[in-house]
Amino acid sequence: MIKVDISNIWGELSLRDLLSIESELSAAHMTVSERSGAGSEYLGWMELPDRAPTAEHMRILAAAHQIRQTSDVLVVVGIGGSYLGARAVIELLQGKNRNLRRGKGDPQIFFAGNSLSTRAWNELMRLLEGKDFSVCVISKSGTTLESAIAFRNLKWMLERRYGTAQAKRRIYAVTDKTKGALRQMADEEGWESFVIPGDVGGRFSVLTPVGLLPMAVAGIDIVAVLRGAAKAKKEYDLRSFENPVWLYAAVRNLMLRQGKAIELLCAFEPDFSVMGSWWQQLFGESEGKDGKGLFPACAAFTADLHSLGQLVQDGQRNLFETMLRFDPPKLRCTVVSDLKDLDGLNYLAGKTLDHVQEQAYLGTMAAHADGGCPVIAIDCGPVTDESVGELIWFFELSCAVSAYLLGVNPFDQPGVEAYKKNMLQLLGKPGM
Ligand code: PA5
Repeated sequence: MIKVDISNIWGELSLRDLLSIESELSAAHMTVSERSGAGSEYLGWMELPDRAPTAEHMRILAAAHQIRQTSDVLVVVGIGGSYLGARAVIELLQGKNRNLRRGKGDPQIFFAGNSLSTRAWNELMRLLEGKDFSVCVISKSGTTLESAIAFRNLKWMLERRYGTAQAKRRIYAVTDKTKGALRQMADEEGWESFVIPGDVGGRFSVLTPVGLLPMAVAGIDIVAVLRGAAKAKKEYDLRSFENPVWLYAAVRNLMLRQGKAIELLCAFEPDFSVMGSWWQQLFGESEGKDGKGLFPACAAFTADLHSLGQLVQDGQRNLFETMLRFDPPKLRCTVVSDLKDLDGLNYLAGKTLDHVQEQAYLGTMAAHADGGCPVIAIDCGPVTDESVGELIWFFELSCAVSAYLLGVNPFDQPGVEAYKKNMLQLLGKPGM
């Protein structure tokens, strides 16, 4: 089980504060498990770990095998919940630079259709030069403009390069079962396609084919990821403060009630940064409504201690931190000894880098807490396929419980439509 340590919040909160929220917390958890709250028709994500392995999972593995056999590159087209989860898991497990080490039989994976940047498009074109590629297009609505434009152009490229019939064998669509332009195209063109269940919202969809297909292409054991989530589902059903979900959801809500409206999620692991963006969307889109919600911000430590550290230590006291640590990998790095010791580092000779990092973690936590920035410390344990499944579950359940505690519907996102409406009007979309 993930460990949540709240020993660095007591400067801000008392045990009495924590206990005072217990009945609300219990009610919020019950609202999730009994599906009795606003948006409960989107609680399908809670069944995803139990559904494995199904015929759909076997098809995902077969498609992944086919892509790995035929392609140097898989381009995953999608935005928001339709790409962040897959990218987050792949980078956390295989590193930011995984693509540099990959080739035939183990494709590079690039993400497209998540911006309207011409520079990003041009770079993708350069990266695809001379490479065999396939495209996995992911969109629940099937109409999102950023992804639709990128996909239209990539499909055009596939058709020119491989001919219409062969191009069809290189397109994989992940979308709604019946609705939307992408579903219509997939059915009409005969592309291999996978279903995003109607009762699962975008930001909760990482354990559907949205996340699982790109992960499987990356060579990640998706059954282990689902197993980790299934185990977490059982363990985190506990109704007491021994449940890390309860501690996390309670403390972040109590912080908000004390005026600490910014949560800075900081991981001592650079490969966590896209998972940070996934977390940011999960909590930001779920809680930020009706004039409520914490602002979810992310940082990578220790790098950002050299940029944001001053503000966290000494700036406006309107934030708290959630600090994540992971076990180091088995292959350790040791500080070497130097004969001259001109840099004065021989006192660390023979010590491992993770020992140094551990002291940085402890030192930062104490300094920030002393400076009036309370810290929730989360020990995530080792980074494995299974533990990533557990971490996903931990955050998804915490988010649902926390949002009900806050008094909002965790599963809608009415505010996202405003920019789309303006943009489409400006672009002259017929009927807008
Ligand atoms: O969580 C959400 O619903 C959003 O982030 C969507 O995933 C995102 O807007 C992409 O939408 P779609 O999958 O319909 O293209």
